[in-house]
Amino acid sequence: MFIEKGLNDYLKNNPANEIIIGESGFGTGLNALLTLLYARRNRIKIHYQTYEKYPLSPEIIKQLAEMFTDEEKKFFLKIHEANWEEKTSITEYFEIEKIQKDFVRISAKDLWHVHYYDAFSPRVQPGLWEKPVLKRIYEGLRAGGFFVTYSAKGSVRRNLIDLGFEVEKLAGPPGKREMLRARKPN
Ligand SMILES: C[S@@+](CC[C@H](N)C(=O)[O-])C[C@H]1O[C@@H](n2cnc3c(N)ncnc32)[C@H](O)[C@@H]1O
Repeated sequence: MFIEKGLNDYLKNNPANEIIIGESGFGTGLNALLTLLYARRNRIKIHYQTYEKYPLSPEIIKQLAEMFTDEEKKFFLKIHEANWEEKTSITEYFEIEKIQKDFVRISAKDLWHVHYYDAFSPRVQPGLWEKPVLKRIYEGLRAGGFFVTYSAKGSVRRNLIDLGFEVEKLAGPPGKREMLRARKPN
């Protein structure tokens, strides 16, 4: 959904050969892998900047890698082997920069075209859905950029509107959660 409603819809509205994506919550690296595969399929050069405070252990990453085909597994492991705090080319079309940092300290300015906000839910981590943290994401996006997240909670939606975003609620796939897409105005 981040790919379809965030990246793909952004590019439909703003065709480009090269874009910068931000992600809050690198976690298993699954979003990063899916984005790499999208970049390869569509020949779009993607710079992927992702934040994570608690990286997973090498043992868990090894277990997760077994879920993938051989080709996917090769990219998945390369993504995980990339050093933190450095930009690393994984393929011709995909470069990753993993940053070990708390979301509350993100300080990017006018950088990302799309941001996948993939924090745990407001019920689990309420502070990450308040205006001070969301404002950092607003500031890190370029004008016209998309913020996408799984949570359609009213208070989150209102916080995004108060920050200046134009917010849409989107239906998830059948049986799945709704999501919010917020656009930073030009
Ligand atoms: C829903 S998971 C992300 C899933 C991930 N995008 C993926 O593709 O697997 C949320 C992630 O946010 C990280 N996290 C939670 N609180 C954080 C914080 N305050 N700062 C940075 N990362 C945080 C967690 O460790 C977890 O990996």
